[in-house]
Amino acid sequence: MCGIFGTINGSDAAPVLLDGLGRLDYRGYDSAGLAVLDKTIAVRKLGGSVDALASLIRVRPAEGRVGIAHTRWATHGAATSENAHPHVFDGIAVVHNGVIENHDAIRTRLQQDGHEFQTSTDSEVLPHLISHHRRRGQSAVVAVQSALGEVHGSYAVAVLMEDIPDLLIAGRRGSPLVVGHDEDGGYIASDPAALAGYCAQYAALGEGALALVARGAVLVMDQTGAAETPRWQQVPSLTTVRRTGAGAHMAAELAEIPAAVAATLAAADRRVGRTGLEAGGTVLLTACGSSRHAAAIGAHWLEHWAGVPTRVEIASELLHRPTLLAEAAHLVALSQSGETADTLAVVRMAAAASVPTAAIVNVAHSQMAREAGTVWPTLAGAEQAVAATKSFASQLAVLARLSLDVAEARGTLSPVEAVFRRRALERLPSWLGQVLDGVDHDALSEAVKVLARARTALAIGRDIGAEIAAEAALKLAELAYLPTLAVPAGELKHGPIALLEPGVPVIAILIHGPTLAKQVVSLEEVAARGAGLILIGDDAALTATHGIAALRLPLPPVADAVAWAALPLGVGVIVQRLAMMTALARGLNPDRPRNLAKSVTVE
Ligand code: G6P
Repeated sequence: MCGIFGTINGSDAAPVLLDGLGRLDYRGYDSAGLAVLDKTIAVRKLGGSVDALASLIRVRPAEGRVGIAHTRWATHGAATSENAHPHVFDGIAVVHNGVIENHDAIRTRLQQDGHEFQTSTDSEVLPHLISHHRRRGQSAVVAVQSALGEVHGSYAVAVLMEDIPDLLIAGRRGSPLVVGHDEDGGYIASDPAALAGYCAQYAALGEGALALVARGAVLVMDQTGAAETPRWQQVPSLTTVRRTGAGAHMAAELAEIPAAVAATLAAADRRVGRTGLEAGGTVLLTACGSSRHAAAIGAHWLEHWAGVPTRVEIASELLHRPTLLAEAAHLVALSQSGETADTLAVVRMAAAASVPTAAIVNVAHSQMAREAGTVWPTLAGAEQAVAATKSFASQLAVLARLSLDVAEARGTLSPVEAVFRRRALERLPSWLGQVLDGVDHDALSEAVKVLARARTALAIGRDIGAEIAAEAALKLAELAYLPTLAVPAGELKHGPIALLEPGVPVIAILIHGPTLAKQVVSLEEVAARGAGLILIGDDAALTATHGIAALRLPLPPVADAVAWAALPLGVGVIVQRLAMMTALARGLNPDRPRNLAKSVTVE
């Protein structure tokens, strides 16, 4: 995580850096800072957002035509202005994304040489280490190479030096970094989308590569130090939008779900050939956060329609299960950003074990999209709120479609039935529009009131409902800071039922089907303990619970042919909206919850 931006283009650097950082703050927003050079380096940084940094610069302008900037998600050290980047020592300013695992050893060694440190952050050792090598006679570039060569762990860095005002140095290993230039300027960024409007082409730096970025030119060296011809690619057009106001991004992105699902299904229509999943053997789905919840729902569909044995594993855990991975017939990774470090590491591990890989990914130019054997894209567009909404819905659209395609290829669904079911999926966008527009506002407000004053909550469901309960619990915890325990309804009686008492709301996800009768029994058990119930589901399911006192949030009616996919998607929309509104009712900004980042590029 952390966003890096650097510019050297002959114009006032600070506004360019602030603009770049504003496009990158999805990578972290604990603290922000920049360094610009005009004979000497001027630094402005604070524990706070990019907007706060912009306000600081209005009060204390920073002049210079070359500079580097950083928006941070803290790994080592609190989100304070001292710990914010850039770190500067001896006329050398550095911004860093990644984790320096051996920073303690480097610090101790440098301290013995007389270096004094201001912070306990891993990143602060970098300018000291570069200075150490320069003082021993190395040139600027060689000193950066030497310093980075000593680092264990991951890094993307941009370096600005007082005595070399016409050059920025960029380097990466593990963490992403791209460079670009036009006739007059040179740029560095964590994400090529941040370069839109500044240059037309970018090159992604390879593992261990170093780049010298000057006005109008970029020189790239590979990890051996040999000059390398950059592979130039088109900078994606600017898709991010500046929105102000708590929850403005999340509300807009929820409203964009129908369009995102429609675009994603249209892209799936253009797919040709078989998926590879029909070959037989276990399909392993892996992801983190909400993407994992989408995977878990998709696993039910793949098993139901195509009879494919499917496992879902959290990416960071799968990394410790090489046997499980090596035994899989196919690995499918799901990621909005396409750069979540844990998920990317699993893709690499699978490739190394010769397991075919596919990625369901939203950011087309991401590392995962580049590395996976096959890409099944979601076309949700830029998602800027930290919490997944339209990307989650789009992942479900891909998985629904994939389940039908695999089922047809395996013969568990006849071609006629497959065409019928595929066409039925086309009704999803307009129905999801009804879910968004037709929600019972009074019931929703009442549910929000209950959740906003609760100290803890439970979310229950069975079968696919249990997976959506997990998504509800994640969203309430991350956005509204409401500790919510997700429990498959059948497990309630094996422990979590002890938590029930008046004032502990229980959200129950209800989708009609064979498990409904059993779930009604669980609801009776909850009601008998005086806990308040919030029921979210389709009409048929809610009708079956009419004897139980509860707040009800029903979905609009949906055609049978598509209900299997529509209902999980629809309930997902409602729980995400509920969590957003609960956050707002608690005075929180659901777009930028504390301690989180949208793109998690450290393991
Ligand atoms: C972060 C975000 C979550 C997201 C998860 C996985 O934790 O806050 O909203 O679901 O990363 O991200 P990915 O980009 O891989 O889907």
